[in-house]
Amino acid sequence: MRSKNPTYEYLKKSVFYQVYPTSFYDGNGDGVGDLSGVVSKLAYIKDLGADGIWLNPCFLSEFRDGGYDVVDYYKIDPRFGTDGDLGRLFEEADKLGLKILLDLVPGHTSEKCEWFLQSKKAGKNPYSDYYIWTDNVFNDGAGLRTVNGVCERDGNYAVNFFAMQPALNFGFAEVRRPWQKLWTDPSFEAIHSEIIRIMEHYLSRGAAGFRVDMASSLIKYDADGAKNAELWQMLIGRVKQKYPRAIFVSEWSQPEMSVGRAGFDIDFLIHVRGEAYNSLFRAEAEHGAWGAAGAPSYFRAGSPAGLGTFFDGFFHEAAGLNDNGFIGIPTGNHDIERLSAGRTADEMKTAFAFLLTLPSVPFIYYGDEIGMRHLPVPNKDGGYSRTGSRTPMQWTDGKRAGFSTAKPKEFYLPVENDPLVNVRAQENDGGSLLSCVKKLIQIRKGEPALWADAEIKILTKYMETPFLYERTDGKGKLVIALNAKGGKARRAFPCKGTVLAKNNCRVEAGELCFDGCGFLIFKAGEKQ
Ligand code: NOJ
Repeated sequence: MRSKNPTYEYLKKSVFYQVYPTSFYDGNGDGVGDLSGVVSKLAYIKDLGADGIWLNPCFLSEFRDGGYDVVDYYKIDPRFGTDGDLGRLFEEADKLGLKILLDLVPGHTSEKCEWFLQSKKAGKNPYSDYYIWTDNVFNDGAGLRTVNGVCERDGNYAVNFFAMQPALNFGFAEVRRPWQKLWTDPSFEAIHSEIIRIMEHYLSRGAAGFRVDMASSLIKYDADGAKNAELWQMLIGRVKQKYPRAIFVSEWSQPEMSVGRAGFDIDFLIHVRGEAYNSLFRAEAEHGAWGAAGAPSYFRAGSPAGLGTFFDGFFHEAAGLNDNGFIGIPTGNHDIERLSAGRTADEMKTAFAFLLTLPSVPFIYYGDEIGMRHLPVPNKDGGYSRTGSRTPMQWTDGKRAGFSTAKPKEFYLPVENDPLVNVRAQENDGGSLLSCVKKLIQIRKGEPALWADAEIKILTKYMETPFLYERTDGKGKLVIALNAKGGKARRAFPCKGTVLAKNNCRVEAGELCFDGCGFLIFKAGEKQ
């Protein structure tokens, strides 16, 4: 074993599935997804081939930012059910060998959180310093975004994201004002313990770990993230003393810092190195919160883009992982435009073939496996333009899409009644996107050369089509070919071996022939 991290061996073969619980399945018929709904669909997630689930926040919330405005970390929001339902989710998932990652929001709370209600009082109390306050309302935030003059307390408070999300106080990388304290100040032990207590509480209940929201946002004025990395090393280290197999997935997007230095097991490559991820699917995104409008993305028919931007970022980050963990590349998430936007089923299959054969841990956002669309819906729960990728899962066709027994007008968000974009239709169709995704996951699981720790070698130029790369673990060797641009494409392919999966592609007389957008996964060996 190369790595000292006890979760490394497990994670390198894993595939995760992201569930936005409000929209996955409604277990009690009120039109809103809930935890008992997730329980009843665990078999589906298992059958897809996933090993674990990242569940978006399910804690008591005002839902002015989709649950990322937590009112009480120890209570389950009534829209999702009870604490007992969460316990049942852990138990039932465990029976199927599925791990549950909860969503930890350590950087801020809701303004309705009891800690903040105390903190904003004029009188000194144990919570006064839990949040970042200026020393009076006439002093500016020294570069921080603040809410000014709305509290009894004579001070302005810093916010971490939206205005109703006051930033918890983990100190500063450097002190620029008298009301700021260095992050190493012993007084921060109180907030450190508070966050550790939340993590240990849920780990003791059966959670496998956490996806950590805005993980690099805790210590302020930390331009390169190095102090936040030190802080997390300490926090994760303390939790791992008791729970050595706890899994930590960061929303940081700088894996060399978060995995290589802070001790996270996986970090998403999304928005910090945004150009790398966006260059694949969302360079022209219209809806994505982090979408950089510009050149067409690589996975787009006819696009002139190459894979250089992606692999430059990817290899740079991968070089700094220190064998501690992995890069996570998601098909999408609740903050960005759906993968399907502007793509045909063949284009999505090619994108999945790529994501599931990279040396990284794949995360599949619910509904992407059936090509759910980004719906043009108005803002709900603080989603704004992100709301379109949070619509109810389409289990069947029909007005309710099999999501809920409630009347469609009572649904949290509308569903698209589509005869093809639903689980039932695609489960029964061997040529569907869903069948293709299942097969790709199965292949990945059976081939150690495709796991996250195996080597990748690029065989063609980044601009070339078809684009070829090789994966090897020293024993097996696989060649993957992609024709992401569509149209016919050929190249010499004098390899011996077996075709494991393909779409719009043939291997014929030493030639690789694409008839359109597609892919090939080829296992090198004796047979042809
Ligand atoms: C990132 C989350 O993914 C997003 O949905 C949320 O709005 C912000 N962090 C603030 O918590």
